[in-house]
Amino acid sequence: MTNWEELESACETCKNCSLWETRSKLVFGVGKLSAEVLFIGEGPGENEDLEGEPFVGRAGKLLDDMLRIINLDREKNTYIANIVKCRPPKNRDPLPEEREACKPWLSAQISLIMPKIVVCLGRIAAIEMIDQSFKVTQDHGKWYDIDGVKYMGLFHPAALLRDPNRRPETFLDLKELERVIKEICNDTYGGDK
Ligand code: URA
Ligand code: SF4
Repeated sequence: MTNWEELESACETCKNCSLWETRSKLVFGVGKLSAEVLFIGEGPGENEDLEGEPFVGRAGKLLDDMLRIINLDREKNTYIANIVKCRPPKNRDPLPEEREACKPWLSAQISLIMPKIVVCLGRIAAIEMIDQSFKVTQDHGKWYDIDGVKYMGLFHPAALLRDPNRRPETFLDLKELERVIKEICNDTYGGDK
């Protein structure tokens, strides 16, 4: 698979796990292919399934606010995708076999985008992308170097809606993310280089 359009159109008809049976729209991802910062969520919810875009519900509004704090924007300089591209029924966690089946799509997206920084939103994304033993309460905001790419896990925005007490910690994580973005990303991100 060499280019983005081919990848996306192949993904649109994917039936590699049973989640295709109940999807309204497949949610491939949104943002700039030139992004140096990639965000990865868990999977589409109800609104995302209807609209075909990640993070468009309440959690999505909060994510957009979080991004804005550090000058990131899905329209301008970041890309947002999910571990699974089709909505799990009743918003249950995607099963390990569904995550496994869907992973090649995300891996292909990552190979084409070549981000410098990958931010995992919530436990499922972090255990899939960073470490099986990742604990969000303990490991959020820490950096992990994987094959020359920097990874960080954050509380999922839906968790921040349920538990606003986590927001101050997340704010600090975002400022740390911003610091490293300015250090290693190109100058459209506001760094000094
Ligand atoms: N939660 C996610 O993990 N992803 C979405 O796209 C929406 C909500
Ligand atoms: Fe294919 Fe992923 Fe959808 Fe399963 S969740 S059908 S693997 S695109």
